[in-house]
Amino acid sequence: MLEKINTLIEELEQLTAEKKEQVEEYRIRFLSKKGAITALFDDFKSVPNDMKKEMGQRLNELRDLAKNKINDLKEKFEEAETSGDNTLDLTTPPLPYVQVGSRHPLSIVKNEIISIFSKIGFTISEGREIEDDWHNFTALNTPENHPARDMQDTFYVSLNPEMVLRTQTSSVQVHIMEKQTPPIRTISPGRVYRNEAISARAHCQFHQVEGLYIDEKVSFADLKQTLLYFAREMFGEDTKIRLRPSYFPFTEPSAEMDISCTICKGAGCNVCKYTGWVEILGCGMVDPQVLENCKIDSTKFKGFAFGMGIERITMLKYQMKDLRLFFENDVRVLKQFTAAEK
Ligand code: DAH
Repeated sequence: MLEKINTLIEELEQLTAEKKEQVEEYRIRFLSKKGAITALFDDFKSVPNDMKKEMGQRLNELRDLAKNKINDLKEKFEEAETSGDNTLDLTTPPLPYVQVGSRHPLSIVKNEIISIFSKIGFTISEGREIEDDWHNFTALNTPENHPARDMQDTFYVSLNPEMVLRTQTSSVQVHIMEKQTPPIRTISPGRVYRNEAISARAHCQFHQVEGLYIDEKVSFADLKQTLLYFAREMFGEDTKIRLRPSYFPFTEPSAEMDISCTICKGAGCNVCKYTGWVEILGCGMVDPQVLENCKIDSTKFKGFAFGMGIERITMLKYQMKDLRLFFENDVRVLKQFTAAEK
């Protein structure tokens, strides 16, 4: 048996292969169920006990050698198959299979708003989307049964009617004023919800950016100048603004701001309904009672606030006519914004 083993070892050491198929033949010849080495393992049972140790070792050496040798030969052929193919041109640019994604238009505009206000010292703050009645309404001078609650159709949380899906990011104002001492200069972007029927002009979810500035000497002129700066940065140097008196429970006086129509430049078109102006936000001086509700001394501090809809600004900027496009996530729409980000 030892002799047989030695012959096989010698044979294996000199083994070479010209073709891949030969390697498989070797495997069958040496290692398969009916192979020469397997047969020797079968004979091993009849080896006398005193020789079992030596013979066993030798037999194992033989098997390992055969496995290694056959694997080496196999690898050599596989390597040649992959690297030897000189029709492969490694300098070919990759095919564009991978569709590069793009940022959502609302995110592009939100980031632009953030960057515009950051330049003049506004920080970014966030509140929460499930809000209590106090922060969304009562602290903002809109107690229960106040008629202004009708301005915003609200989703109440059924398990706890004290909780609502916030209808406005003005709720973040309250959190900030409760936590921080003035001076406060912050904007709060985020999603809000209203119980509205979905159409081209209304949706049950949309996005707003709230702005708040509280300090000892803040005037309506500061508000106007801040908003003019914003309008010019956002819509271009020659944009004009117009403030119209309005009503919000948490500001006094309150105003709505229009910008000169970006489409017709004031000449009149269907976007501005032939007025030359489009409304983009609500604003005003923070009502002293709101400051007091948030434990800020209204005899010492004043402030202004404003709130704008991100969808509205995006629609104006990119001339989009249907609000639903923002929430459908149709790639054919979204991929048009690949190059829009500044
Ligand atoms: N929260 C108001 C809304 O959703 C927008 C608004 C108006 C916010 C005036 C303000 C403000 O901070 O001063 O309609």
